[in-house]
Amino acid sequence: MSFNNVIELKHPLIEHKLGILRKKETGTKEFRELANEIGVFLCYKAMEDIELEETEIETPICKMKTGKLNEDKFAFVPILRAGMGILDGVISVIPNAKIGHIGMYRDDSNGYKPVNYFFKVPKNIEEKEVIILDPMLATGGSAIDAIDLIKEKGVKKIKFICIIAAPEGLEKVTQKHPDVKIYCAHIDEKLNENAYIVPGLGDAGDRIFGTK
Ligand code: PRP
Ligand code: URA
Repeated sequence: MSFNNVIELKHPLIEHKLGILRKKETGTKEFRELANEIGVFLCYKAMEDIELEETEIETPICKMKTGKLNEDKFAFVPILRAGMGILDGVISVIPNAKIGHIGMYRDDSNGYKPVNYFFKVPKNIEEKEVIILDPMLATGGSAIDAIDLIKEKGVKKIKFICIIAAPEGLEKVTQKHPDVKIYCAHIDEKLNENAYIVPGLGDAGDRIFGTK
């Protein structure tokens, strides 16, 4: 299955870690550790095309020119709650990136439409590259609304990182926001009648925070 601007991590280690993450017996501690670890790999992949500034350094042997990242140019924006589950992983890669938050939950009684209850982003966000985080992209409703909110702030470069995506949601998000690259660890089979991803991993928020 392939979609324009959707990059799926295809790597045996990712498949292995994802297998443990998905297992229903996997407990909160291990789930959190694995979600963050997969977040690190996704972040590396999402950073593949970033531009570095040239700088001169001196090794013990000689001077040389090398590339340097201006970390201030990046902001991570987790979608609450579950997006918090990969935040530690991605900020281990770019520790000085700024962080925003979007609070959103799916309303089961209203066709799984997302309800936005919180929005706080760093100042001058329009000058930054924004990477939105959410482990699950199911119907795509939350991703579409989160990207809309970030675009309304004038941001031009947006990426979306998730662990598992459903084809139905990817279809919708890539149609509405063809300029946003989506990085995922796996594209699963489908959605079930309750808009949960199959095979998926269940409710990511509940598994990260141990709420059920
Ligand atoms: C989950 C998940 C995404 C959303 C994906 O959050 O973390 O934000 O569902 O579904 P969608 O693609 O159909 O919009 P949920 O609404 O369960 O909120 P929570 O993270 O607070 O549990
Ligand atoms: N949200 C989740 O946490 N899991 C799904 O499968 C779908 C939406």
